[in-house]
Amino acid sequence: MSSIDYEALAAEARQMFESAADEHELESARVAWIGRKGRITLLLRQIPDLPADERPIAGGTLNALKGELAACLEERLRNLSADESETGADFDITHPGRTPFIGRLHPLTTTLNEIIDVFREMGFDVAEGPEVESEYYNFEALNIPEHHPARGMWDTFWTESPPGMVLRTHTSPVQIRTMEHQEPPVRIIVPGRCYRSDTPDSTHSPVFHQVEGLYVDEGVSMAMLRGALDTFAHRLFGEEVPTRFRPSYFPFTEPSAELDIGCFQCSGKGCRLCKGTGWIEILGAGMVNPDLYGFVGYDPEKVTGYAFGMGVERIAMLRYGIDDIRLFYENDLRFLEQF
Ligand code: PHE
Repeated sequence: MSSIDYEALAAEARQMFESAADEHELESARVAWIGRKGRITLLLRQIPDLPADERPIAGGTLNALKGELAACLEERLRNLSADESETGADFDITHPGRTPFIGRLHPLTTTLNEIIDVFREMGFDVAEGPEVESEYYNFEALNIPEHHPARGMWDTFWTESPPGMVLRTHTSPVQIRTMEHQEPPVRIIVPGRCYRSDTPDSTHSPVFHQVEGLYVDEGVSMAMLRGALDTFAHRLFGEEVPTRFRPSYFPFTEPSAELDIGCFQCSGKGCRLCKGTGWIEILGAGMVNPDLYGFVGYDPEKVTGYAFGMGVERIAMLRYGIDDIRLFYENDLRFLEQF
């Protein structure tokens, strides 16, 4: 076999692939050159008969050409089918479209969903209640009678007509509403909007969100409360984060506590975020005050329970490093698009 003019061969092959006018002609070109009995295939098969010094060059060149022709074939096929579907249309259907504006979940919604997920896995059901609430559910049945100084902890908006309704100051009224029409065991979480007559600043908003938790049954203990809240804190803030219970006061729990997590910014050394204490408060909790069972007809000798309540904004601010609560409500896209 004499040496081959690769240049001429390649030119001839390219010409045939490039001038093919339809899929049929392209197929002929494929069979003629790189099919099982195509010219290049046959030449490759004859390489062992070439003089030893020609073999590497022949192999390299022919294989490269074969690859080039296969790629050319692919591309031509794609163009041909694009041309076909375009028949009659006077626009370029291959031009990328305009990306539609796709919304996303608000960081408060995302945080709320995560909190709900954790407790749902522990067997809690989701319950809800009204935002315009009676004084009875928001205060009285929660052991906060009129003139009780604790009412000062929950100053809020009152309606004029009908008079004497409040925009609920917390989700705790749903504890009472649920126990009123359900026998123990009761195991619920209550997400919802709350109101207080606070002047807006970086950490206060007259409208905000809470998630309440309530578990009442025979034998519910404070250790179980601690365990549930630890699980929650670790799921939202990481397995490593330390937690602690600090004594506190709420009229509807006894004893009462607040849950702190170790400051993740300074790892407990003390910084601005934790006000130098090394700890950050994330929620209020406690054992349900047996007085509440009197309001809902439960037997305080038989059942015990725990309750907790947290601010969703606060959890979201800590999780995402947001330093001003007002950002949640301004709907500024530059803020929202970061989540
Ligand atoms: N309702 C309380 C508040 O808004 C939080 C809380 C709920 C505390 C349940 C204890 C038990 O401050």
